[in-house]
Amino acid sequence: MKAAITGTGRYFPEREETNAYFYEELGLDTSEDWIVERTGIRTRRLAGPGETCSTMAVAAARRCLQDAGRSVDDVDAIVVATVTPDQPLPSVACHVQAALGARCWAFDLVAACSGFVYGLNVVAGMVESGRAKCVLFIGADHMSSILDFRDRNTSIIFGDAAGAVLVEAVDDDHPGTVHRSTLHADGTGAKHLQIPAGGGAMPLTPQLLDEGLHFVKQEGRVVFRHAVSGIISVVREHLASEGITVDDIDLFVPHQANVRIIHAAMDRLKVPRDKTVITIDRYANTTAASIPTALDIAREEGRVRCGDRVLFATFGAGFTWGAQTVTWGLD
Ligand code: COA
Repeated sequence: MKAAITGTGRYFPEREETNAYFYEELGLDTSEDWIVERTGIRTRRLAGPGETCSTMAVAAARRCLQDAGRSVDDVDAIVVATVTPDQPLPSVACHVQAALGARCWAFDLVAACSGFVYGLNVVAGMVESGRAKCVLFIGADHMSSILDFRDRNTSIIFGDAAGAVLVEAVDDDHPGTVHRSTLHADGTGAKHLQIPAGGGAMPLTPQLLDEGLHFVKQEGRVVFRHAVSGIISVVREHLASEGITVDDIDLFVPHQANVRIIHAAMDRLKVPRDKTVITIDRYANTTAASIPTALDIAREEGRVRCGDRVLFATFGAGFTWGAQTVTWGLD
């Protein structure tokens, strides 16, 4: 029994904010040139009133099920990768399950910007082992809910979105396959990218709220350096473990954290730029949603065909990082 992706879907909020929002409306000490040159971002979507991680996830999930020609009754598990749940308890996946009217089991998984690659490995394992036949897997993040819009170091780089894939058990002669992931974590990097307060270690107090310690904090330069070297080394390790080379990859869908991270890694790996999907200019870094939304966009643009080998690679908080290939099984 093997697992394959049998449908995709995405959702971006309607509200769009260009870079000018930060220096004109919010009055931050930043500029169009700085943001475009240092990150590649020109605009992003931010959740509007009433939109949350689960509402975005539900919208992406509906499109995914429709794409796969499946009904919610076919789904026997829902998994959501996210770091921005609607509330600490219960999971986003349970809210999605209720909104879709599904009756299956449902849970969230936390691996920050690596959530999609980590989760796809977990979900494919559930399917390969026979514990689930059809899993709705969603990467969704409402990053604007954890951003300090007074902080130019973090507020400009993120956006909100959800991307979904359906992962199903298929026969061996099916053209699609989710291959094994190559995954890593190094928890000593936790301090470089984190939300310090709001958990059991530092419960929220009025003072911590005033200090903004419930928002994302990062040492951008440290994260940048680790992201480039982590992606390069994990892609090399992954290709070697699969017994393939960069030339065997038809499409590369990296996590969209910074266009300079993507280009630095791709150039060192000698992945041609025309095989690389870039969406960060339009949507910024949408954390767990960045790879599934970029994949769905690439499909719509006709960049992925049945039989293609597609490579995902990512790096995020934790630190966590990983690479994964899938053989594409859809037309
Ligand atoms: N506008 C203008 N100046 C800014 C700025 C902004 N939005 N953000 C930071 N700066 C300033 C810094 O304060 C610093 O000023 P200083 O030299 O006077 O101290 C200067 O620009 C350079 O800062 P630095 O952090 O070295 O910039 P950078 O080129 O590394 O770019 C990031 C900053 C955050 C864009 C970049 O480090 C990055 O993308 N890191 C990865 C972050 C990431 O992906 N996180 C998500 C998880 S994957």
